[in-house]
Amino acid sequence: MSQNVNSAWSAGYVTEVDYTVGFYRELSPSFLNWAAVQRGYRAPDLDRPFTVLELGCGHGYSANVLAACNPEGRFYATDFNPTHVVSARRLAAEAGITNISFFEDSFSELKNRDLPEFDYINLHGVYSWISPANRHEIVDIIARKLKPGGLVYVSYNSLPGWAAMAPARRLMTEYAATLGVPLTNKFEQALTLLQQLKDSGAHYFSANPMVAPRLDKIREQNRNYLLHEYFNDAWELLYHADVAVEMGTAKLNFIASANYAENLDHLSFPGQTRAVYDQINDPVLKETVRDFATNQQFRRDLFSRGRIRLTAAEHRAWHDATPFALVRARSACPLKGAFPAGEVNLKPEAYEPLLDALASGPKTLAELQRQPALAQQPPASLIESLQVLGALGYLQAGRPLSCKARNAAVSRAFNQAILHRALAGQDMTTLASPVLGSGVNLALTDQLFLLAHQQSAKDHAAFVWSKLNAMGRRLLHEGQPLNDEAANLAKLREMGDQFSRDTLPLCRNLALL
Ligand SMILES: C[S@@+](CC[C@H](N)C(=O)[O-])C[C@H]1O[C@@H](n2cnc3c(N)ncnc32)[C@H](O)[C@@H]1O
Repeated sequence: MSQNVNSAWSAGYVTEVDYTVGFYRELSPSFLNWAAVQRGYRAPDLDRPFTVLELGCGHGYSANVLAACNPEGRFYATDFNPTHVVSARRLAAEAGITNISFFEDSFSELKNRDLPEFDYINLHGVYSWISPANRHEIVDIIARKLKPGGLVYVSYNSLPGWAAMAPARRLMTEYAATLGVPLTNKFEQALTLLQQLKDSGAHYFSANPMVAPRLDKIREQNRNYLLHEYFNDAWELLYHADVAVEMGTAKLNFIASANYAENLDHLSFPGQTRAVYDQINDPVLKETVRDFATNQQFRRDLFSRGRIRLTAAEHRAWHDATPFALVRARSACPLKGAFPAGEVNLKPEAYEPLLDALASGPKTLAELQRQPALAQQPPASLIESLQVLGALGYLQAGRPLSCKARNAAVSRAFNQAILHRALAGQDMTTLASPVLGSGVNLALTDQLFLLAHQQSAKDHAAFVWSKLNAMGRRLLHEGQPLNDEAANLAKLREMGDQFSRDTLPLCRNLALL
């Protein structure tokens, strides 16, 4: 359908344009471990040597970030697109990362490699975009290579949330197949066809009201992402039940969601749907009912091979050994948040002192309990508050304190490589945190302020402006570029104050410097 010139090896997967460069925190062992623990399950130890395989790693940004900040981990990643692999290897070499190997193998070729057994096999944004035969290859790799007790993270486009949009995608690919133009142009023309149908009153749009806003959104999205999302020959919307059956053949069970909000049942059901969910006993059917309750479009599933329940003492001990760290400025943590159950107001008496304690640095549960302002809160309610803040994206669980290799030299070298790429005009907005064992987003201007700080520049705003100017960049005001130097500098001074107040302490807490 997509008329791929490289179709002999790509099996109809888009290769005419490469994928976007992105970091996905769900691929982090520390992030997945907390998901398992939220549901009461034991996860692999991160303070001993562990192994991670990523399937379909794209440009390998996530894998490189994770290798840089998890020195106990040995990382392996594969992607059959040579452009992706060369880009991944270049970044690893630039940053001096030695605990990672990138392969240019397809899933079926990977089977011929002499590989170790893995504690984690992860795939993000892959499973819905490949053929059933390739899904089978993946399950086969998992069946043969995942350790007992190992975890599998798999994300996919799900039903029923995608149902209304599926015919629009089909029309786009059918139309594209009739056009003899490059892939990007096919996409634009297919979008135009849909727009014409909508404007001329096609009933499909009135019967499926979520499609028109989705098309508006698509117009704003990155074209490389969209081509990989919509234009692969294989494109299958999956029910959780289908994925559970496929993973079941490798002896896996679903244990938790890497979308933390879904592990908080009291916050994740709209209306009265929780009662319907509660009356179902079958665990797979329960997840399907959940997906109907929320009209789920994208699932982030965590499966395990063998499940061991944590005892109450082990659950508590895990929280006492694991630091929790804010991943955004304290001032950017409002005491309310949107959940499927509706907007939730967080009790200031419980959450203010918790956020204040974490703002001064990452803390374990035991350390939080030693704070006078938190000493009265029972451990169970502190654990729940941490989970709620995790679900809101305010904090993450980091590498356990017992990790011996706490030397941040490799992640520092990685972060320097990213800052140098920023200077060369290549935006890569995630740095590696050895505290989290995961990546942290830092916008280009904040990266430049960080550099100004590291180089002890006299005037930080002038330093950042000189770099932006050399890259031909301008700041924006109300969507318009600020063209004169004085206006850019004035805005940078404000941004510099905010950086020193909010972002620099965060960079210190997460050991990004
Ligand atoms: C949508 S991208 C996701 C990339 C990355 N996981 C991310 O989220 O940024 C899917 C990736 O899977 C790779 N891929 C697709 N089919 C594959 C196969 N049969 N063997 C190896 N890699 C494959 C593609 O080249 C692409 O980089």
